Amino acid sequence: MMGFSSIYIVLVSCLVFSAHASFTEEDLIADAGELGRIKGVNLTTVAQSINGPVTPFIAFRGMRYAESTIERRFLPSIRATGRLNDTGDIYDASSAGLPCMQPPVHNWMSEDCLTINVYTPKPYKGNDSDLLPVIFFIHGGSFTIGEGNRFNGNRMMNRDVVLVSFNYRLGVLGFFTLNNEDTPGNAAMYDIVNALEWTRDYIRYFGGDPNKITIAGQSSGAVAVTHLLVSPLSRGLFQGAIANSGTALAAWGTTENSMQGSLAIAELSGCYNSSSTMPIDTAVIAECMRTTATTTTLVTALYTYQLMERSQARLGFDVVSPIVQSFDASTSFQKFLPEHPQQVFQEGRQADVPLMMGTTRHDGSYVLGEYYNKYLKVNNLIEDAEYLAQESVAQILASLGIPNEYGVYDSIAKIYLGDSRKTGNFSEMYPGFMDVIII
Ligand SMILES: *[C@@H]1O[C@H](CO)[C@@H](O)[C@H](O)[C@H]1NC(C)=O
Ligand SMILES: *[C@@H]1O[C@H](CO)[C@@H](O)[C@H](O)[C@H]1NC(C)=O
Ligand SMILES: *[C@@H]1O[C@H](CO)[C@@H](O)[C@H](O)[C@H]1NC(C)=O
Ligand SMILES: *[C@@H]1O[C@H](CO)[C@@H](O)[C@H](O)[C@H]1NC(C)=O
Ligand SMILES: *[C@@H]1O[C@H](CO)[C@@H](O)[C@H](O)[C@H]1NC(C)=O
Repeated sequence: MMGFSSIYIVLVSCLVFSAHASFTEEDLIADAGELGRIKGVNLTTVAQSINGPVTPFIAFRGMRYAESTIERRFLPSIRATGRLNDTGDIYDASSAGLPCMQPPVHNWMSEDCLTINVYTPKPYKGNDSDLLPVIFFIHGGSFTIGEGNRFNGNRMMNRDVVLVSFNYRLGVLGFFTLNNEDTPGNAAMYDIVNALEWTRDYIRYFGGDPNKITIAGQSSGAVAVTHLLVSPLSRGLFQGAIANSGTALAAWGTTENSMQGSLAIAELSGCYNSSSTMPIDTAVIAECMRTTATTTTLVTALYTYQLMERSQARLGFDVVSPIVQSFDASTSFQKFLPEHPQQVFQEGRQADVPLMMGTTRHDGSYVLGEYYNKYLKVNNLIEDAEYLAQESVAQILASLGIPNEYGVYDSIAKIYLGDSRKTGNFSEMYPGFMDVIII
């Protein structure tokens, strides 16, 4: 009896495998309701082991999910509606959309960049009872760099899931705010909510289950995941969450007041003069930032600002973080973040879904690199054993916004650097620094 059932299982898995092994031309076309028909491309995964099996999958790339933000710079994006191809029958989703503006600026980037990608191992045949769970992945990159299509299903499609990745506005274009209705901040977060609503509405046409969506992200993507747990705009849009190396509760994960940083950015963009004795006119600054400053100017302004901040051992993330929108209530749009996430978590009002958190190994190397190149090097401290032994850990923790209450700096140094903390030797201390930064 045992033998019979295992033969049966082998047969069934052969059938399943051959059904997956290749697609017909028809399989590559998703009939996506009001979006119209969409043609994807046929790819295969990277094997999980040498000479291991690979899985074919279909990639639908570069689908616009929100209207162009060129006319809506710094403002909440608006969901795109209707057919993806308004001149023909089928939308060609074979290539990725242009990345959002980021350093170093290239002419193949665009301020109009809000596209989404779907990767599926199984074409949808109209049977809603065997839809696959969905992973909605928010890419990382300090809210400053990166693009969705880099997470392209090459490995994830070895599993029975549908993967969604997408672009959202980055840097100054994604976060500039004077904390008023004109420049409300969180532009990137509104993009993310729009992408998530798009996923809820259309993922079924790609074989994904709109009632089994897990939001996932790494680094700043994880910060965004934990913001979605508390934002009133994302309630009910997902059923699980995975946050890797980041949280809204980190000092760089939420800004309460970025006015000083915003003005510095505006000055570097030629839209504000701090030496002038004229009173600050936020409407004039906002107008200049929206219409006069070029995208290249804004990207460069952020770079310069962070260089200045980091030369003083600060992170410079305050101008590219989600902000608590404390300005007077708006009529034209809802606030993504009306209160600090800490308050919501403390009172247990976050989305009631399973949450998995972790840390990507060595993820602190990025910030450590910035600290090394833009602080230690600039201030000649790399070989300053006394500074490294006495002050470095405190400096890093202070820059992360952690107060030295109850002598916590010493305990942290002991836990993460062990005996190396007393050596004052960077080579011996840096693994500990990396852990302090990311954990
Ligand atoms: C998809 O790719 C596989 C492997 O490269 C190939 O055998 C198959 O013919 C392709 N199918 C289509 C519809 O292009
Ligand atoms: C829209 O359809 C037309 C006609 O089939 C085709 O030539 C064109 O490439 C399509 N555009 C896109 C963006 O897919
Ligand atoms: C739909 O999928 C379920 C589960 O795989 C299967 O039992 C059912 O027969 C399918 N229905 C149709 C109409 O193919
Ligand atoms: C800024 O204002 C000061 C004081 O009014 C003035 O001297 C300076 O030229 C202004 N700088 C720019 C770039 O306009
Ligand atoms: C610092 O530590 C490294 C690695 O242990 C060692 O090679 C190096 O000689 C040390 N430098 C000093 C100045 O002690």
